[in-house]
Amino acid sequence: MRKNVMPPATLIDSFGRKVDYIRLSITDRCDFRCVYCMSEDMTFLPRDEVLSLEESARLVKVFVDLGVSKVRITGGEPLVRKNALWLFEEVGHLPGLRELVVTTNGSQLEHQAQALKKAGVKRINISLDSLDETRFRKITRVGELSKVLRGIEAAKQAGFENIKLNTVLMRGINDDEALALLDFAIAQEIDISYIEEMPLGEVDHTRDSTYVSNDATLKLLKDHHNLISSTESTGGPAHYWRIPHTNTRVGFISPHSHNFCESCNRVRITCKGELYLCLGQESKIDLMPLLRQYPHDDQPLIDAIVNSMTIKPKGHDFDIKRATPSVIRFMSMTGG
Ligand code: 5AD
Ligand code: SF4
Repeated sequence: MRKNVMPPATLIDSFGRKVDYIRLSITDRCDFRCVYCMSEDMTFLPRDEVLSLEESARLVKVFVDLGVSKVRITGGEPLVRKNALWLFEEVGHLPGLRELVVTTNGSQLEHQAQALKKAGVKRINISLDSLDETRFRKITRVGELSKVLRGIEAAKQAGFENIKLNTVLMRGINDDEALALLDFAIAQEIDISYIEEMPLGEVDHTRDSTYVSNDATLKLLKDHHNLISSTESTGGPAHYWRIPHTNTRVGFISPHSHNFCESCNRVRITCKGELYLCLGQESKIDLMPLLRQYPHDDQPLIDAIVNSMTIKPKGHDFDIKRATPSVIRFMSMTGG
């Protein structure tokens, strides 16, 4: 039995930012090997170093008790984790949880989209960097475009409140597809966000060599579409634009050209149970020992989480010109 404790209702950091959003990675593994995310040969964690799904569910419940209203399940690729669906079902309808969302590469959606929707997933982000089969294979190293396209179709059929494509443009690799990807999103009546490549983990190219600024992408898209700046926000770092007479919103996540830390409302939990207070900094606390040492008492966990607010950094410190990445861990560890 979980001991009944009275947690404070909210998490507020030392800059007055309210943390009401967690991103929880449930695996560092992935069936793709995207060039900006992973090196060619990655080693993955042994299973006993990864939180069990029961431990992950317990963490989500504790955070929701602490006032977190939005939870994103990420990876690696979350949907390749065995029984991942159990976690979604376990937390999907928690009172206090306003939004359960997932970030995926789309490879498993063909078979899982409906069940995810039923479990309570409201919105879904699907990575898509190319519409050309050969190029898609080159970027993901192993991925199959047609499978992802069937996944997108399945997600549409399942009726999520929102579907958004995430696109990372790289100079000389897929930057000539910015417009084609937007036109695809418009035809599919879904949203799209362009994400500037971030220096997370050591990959096989230097980030400076592939950097495409979102300002340049926006300028190019504006030559073809009537983009109207929107004041709406999903509480995240993206700035959104609308295109009249379409159902597509266009977002830009620009960690390099526009710092977005001021309104940061989130923390991240790796699949090892490390609570990272910022994607771009090393400040963290380890929750796994507390989960395992106190299997029936949430208070030590709650205290650690509440105290962690004092070390949430003011902002990231990304610099693509640096020879080594600003942060050594990969996005697949921290959760995209
Ligand atoms: N920089 C920017 N985006 C990244 N992603 C993974 N690694 C990086 C990186 N280094 C993206 C994926 C996915 C999202 C979760 O994060 O493409 O869409
Ligand atoms: Fe997998 Fe996503 Fe990383 Fe690509 S970006 S390798 S799909 S975790």
